[in-house]
Amino acid sequence: MRTLNVDLGARAYPIHIGRGLLERPDLILPKLRARKVAVVTNETVGPLYLERLCAGLRLENLEVVGVVLPDGEAHKNWQTLNLIFDALLREHCERATTLIALGGGVVGDMSGFAAASYQRGIDYIQIPTTLLAQVDSSVGGKTAINHPLGKNMIGAFHQPRLVLADTETLSTLPARELSAGLAEVIKYGLIRDAGFFAWLERNIDALRALEPEALGWAIEQSCRHKAEIVAADETERGMRALLNLGHTFGHAIETGLGYGQWLHGEGVAAGTMMAAELSRRMGWLGEEDLARIERLFARAGLPVTGPALGVPRYLELMAHDKKVEAGKLRFVLLRGIGQAVVTDEAAMDDVAVAIEAREKS
Ligand code: NAD
Ligand code: GLY
Repeated sequence: MRTLNVDLGARAYPIHIGRGLLERPDLILPKLRARKVAVVTNETVGPLYLERLCAGLRLENLEVVGVVLPDGEAHKNWQTLNLIFDALLREHCERATTLIALGGGVVGDMSGFAAASYQRGIDYIQIPTTLLAQVDSSVGGKTAINHPLGKNMIGAFHQPRLVLADTETLSTLPARELSAGLAEVIKYGLIRDAGFFAWLERNIDALRALEPEALGWAIEQSCRHKAEIVAADETERGMRALLNLGHTFGHAIETGLGYGQWLHGEGVAAGTMMAAELSRRMGWLGEEDLARIERLFARAGLPVTGPALGVPRYLELMAHDKKVEAGKLRFVLLRGIGQAVVTDEAAMDDVAVAIEAREKS
């Protein structure tokens, strides 16, 4: 087992990464304030892993409430969030109850938001079961649901007490979902670690084949980057915005097509290609680096062009981005591989041309 720490003073918490962690209630027990937990999962992950987790917790004489949500990004909304509140109230969960999110980023983001607001805030634990959730969404305390006009627009910052990433769960993950997670792994190389990007170029096939050594290293490096950034800028006043590389365009793709059509990681990959194209047009990124990024995404099984929504629709959707300040769009762009910056210097003409160049014809 590898352990990292998210250094947030009194709210610091560990991230444990390893095989078989679902069956380690001893890691969970010290984090609980009462002997009652509510495990939130969905109809896909529940049948695979809920019992494995709950059996161990019950053996420790904990009262366990199970909450099973419908599966999918299209359900990341108020109605589904209310199912969590309904169950917590029905089962008389109190302030000292800990909520446990067992699933991918959708379950994690919704459970975190439920924990942030139930009785004005209860503790929660993240047990991520997708690669994307293990390398990104379970760490850092961003919680949210979607709004029809914009992705992740309603939410709160609320840090978990513990993250348990059991890499064995990835064995049942569909290949398309694994690729979506690789988009966020590649993101860390692009924004701040050229050496890790080069390592990914050498090891992308091993990762797609779920080779344990490579997988463990990639998850650890990703979580290390995420933990460092979150510790330095928990509520995104500055450098945390770098984690949104590709997301301004990517969220527009997800919202524009209807939630769930493209996976989040797929939107991030195509969106990153648009950001990289814009960076090249501004003279910040060389042709060869642009080609390396495109090659790595393609080898990871990810799209390198966005859907043909049309430039005006992209711009309309992007106006809801959370990085908009005083009505001005800000972008995360690349000044090279491993060097991302947040900027408001991009001219809208260049943005339009970059989108057009990276839309499917
Ligand atoms: P997801 O939660 O929809 O999971 C993907 C699919 O895999 C789902 O169908 C799920 O049921 C299934 N699944 C999960 N674990 C499985 C397993 N072990 N075996 C088989 N199937 C399994 O999607 P995701 O990619 O994990 O997360 C995407 C979400 O995360 C988006 O809503 C995105 O906005 C959010 N996100 C949040 C943050 C953050 O910082 N909070 C960061 C990145 C992404
Ligand atoms: N995924 C973006 C962030 O956590 O800040």
